[in-house]
Amino acid sequence: MTDPELARIREDFPILSREVNGKPLVYLDNAATSQKPRAVMERLDRFYARENANIHRGVHALSQAATEAYEQSRERVARFIGAPAAGQVVFTRGATEAVNLVASSLSGNLLQAGSTVLITNMEHHANIVPWQLLRDRTGIRLEVARVDDDGLLEVEDLKKKIVELKPSLLSMVYVSNSLGLVNPVREIIAFAHQHSVPVLLDCAQAVPHFPVDVQELDCEWMVFSGHKVFGPSGTGVLYGKAERLEAMPPYQGGGDMIESVSFEKTVFKGPPERFEAGTPNIAGAIGLAAALDYLDSLDREALVQHEGALLAAAREGLESLPGVRIIGNGPDKASVVSFVMDSAHPHDIASFLDVEGIAIRSGHHCTQPLMTRLGLTGTARASFAFYNSMAEVELLVRSLEKIRKFFG
Ligand code: ALA
Repeated sequence: MTDPELARIREDFPILSREVNGKPLVYLDNAATSQKPRAVMERLDRFYARENANIHRGVHALSQAATEAYEQSRERVARFIGAPAAGQVVFTRGATEAVNLVASSLSGNLLQAGSTVLITNMEHHANIVPWQLLRDRTGIRLEVARVDDDGLLEVEDLKKKIVELKPSLLSMVYVSNSLGLVNPVREIIAFAHQHSVPVLLDCAQAVPHFPVDVQELDCEWMVFSGHKVFGPSGTGVLYGKAERLEAMPPYQGGGDMIESVSFEKTVFKGPPERFEAGTPNIAGAIGLAAALDYLDSLDREALVQHEGALLAAAREGLESLPGVRIIGNGPDKASVVSFVMDSAHPHDIASFLDVEGIAIRSGHHCTQPLMTRLGLTGTARASFAFYNSMAEVELLVRSLEKIRKFFG
């Protein structure tokens, strides 16, 4: 991407031109949440200023228009992830709620006392805790595939556990939020299917960085968060294969998910409405569609290349600093760099950088079991989006050099 092209893209994100602590903002915390393009803000504003009404409930013009915009957003999401039909897209509050939905809904059918759910040691808490809750409530077993000393998934261990434990479900992450490592999910999903194991794929950190096609991946379920892909917070998506969603009972009960209700019996709608009880985040779904429109209006291949160049420069810069160690070095990595410094605690690094206007995340990144496995309490993490520049990476490295000297 040329400098003028990047400058034009950056203009689409108003927040990138603000200052923090008297310095130009350098936003390198994109794995926590991404910034929003003006197109998303304008769409939200237009919805609330001109179109706001509840959906699926009114014959009046506004309600009809809001319903249409909401359902078009579902179609937009389906196109974005390559889903065969919009009906296979369920709007949720985020990836976390989507995993909880699946865990709750599979309880008592696919997952019974004694069934095994296999996860990996690099999961976000959102793909650990829902299964633990289910384990404690219903007696399922939770098994964990290993990662090695570098944080890389031990694929052979995972395969062995698929064969030996015969799990009822494999639920795993595509891209590690903490380390940016990309798992070989195509190979793993194909292997799981050879052994009749369905797969739930957490794509929260994948979709912001590269195109993801659920049909090509062939996963049974896929989840992601809207706010990490330049959309509004409080939005997320569960995709499921049609026959899987059909077989799943509701997650929550309430309005809009029923065909009929009497005190004796309630008849539920089919998917996706069955899983969207109550008034959903209508504006959020519409704003998410605007974010996806925006993303697809850009040359995504060029964005992937650009992020790859940022990652390479960051790795090279950090590797050149004595006493700084990158955590999670693998061949396939999204633009996330986690690191530790001999002389400074991750929170000190983040606080020091904040003074320079540089936002990174520090701590366990909601992956405490992974940190424990790596013998760490946390890392400092810089995570890049396509709107970050090489100058920002260089500033990060220069600032880390200052911190290193400061803390000795
Ligand atoms: N899961 C988000 C992160 O990795 C919040 O920071």
